[in-house]
Amino acid sequence: MKKRVAILISGRGSNMEALIRAAQDHNYPATIELVISNKDSALGLQVANSYGIDTKTVIRKNFNSDQEFDDHISNILLQVQIDIICTAGYMKILTKKFVDEWMNKIINIHPSLLPSYKGLNTHRRALEDGARVTGCTTHIVRAELDSGPIIMQESVHIEKDDDEDTLAAKVLKLEHRIFPESLQKIASGKLIIKDNIVLEN
Ligand code: GRF
Repeated sequence: MKKRVAILISGRGSNMEALIRAAQDHNYPATIELVISNKDSALGLQVANSYGIDTKTVIRKNFNSDQEFDDHISNILLQVQIDIICTAGYMKILTKKFVDEWMNKIINIHPSLLPSYKGLNTHRRALEDGARVTGCTTHIVRAELDSGPIIMQESVHIEKDDDEDTLAAKVLKLEHRIFPESLQKIASGKLIIKDNIVLEN
C-alpha cells in the first residue's frame, strides 16, 4: 500500500514539485494527496494545481492561536487519511501538540548540514563564518526547531566566488535530490527510528 502524503508549503514550492514529480513514478511508494499553504500568495499552490494535486490555504490570522491553527490543519490531514507530512519551505513553526500527534510522520528539508545553522539565512551565515562546506539535511521533525533524527545529508564545497545566491542554487539542487529519496526510504519502510537515530530496517 502506498503511503498518502501531504506537503506543507509557504512559497515557491520547488521541493514540493520535486516530491510530486518523484511520486509520478508508478514504483514510488507514496502518493501526494494534498498541498497545504499558510500563504495564499504561495507560488507553489499554482504549481501543485498544474499537476492536478488538491490544494488548501489555511491562514493563521483566521485563528485565535497557533494551537487552533495547527489543530485545524491536523483535522484536514486526518480527514484525507494522510500517513506522512512533508514540510517543504513551510515557514511556520509547528506546535508541540501537532508534532506529538504526528510523531515520526513529519519530514522536513533544511538548507544546511544540521545540527549546524538551524533557523534562517543558513547560506549567509555559512559564508560569514568562512565555512568550506555546507549542504542540506532531511530529518524527522521534533518540536524543537530544525532538530530530529537525520534521514539524509548531502554536502557541497563553498568556493571563493560563491555568494548567497550561488550557494542557495547549488544546495537547492541537492535538496531536490535528497527529499524525494528520503520520502521514498521512509514510505517504503526501509528505515526505522530508534531513539534519536534513523537506522536501516
Ligand atoms: C528551501 O531551501 C528549503 O530547504 C528551505 O526553504 C527553501 C524553500 O524552497 N526551508 P522551495 O519553496 O522548496 O522552492
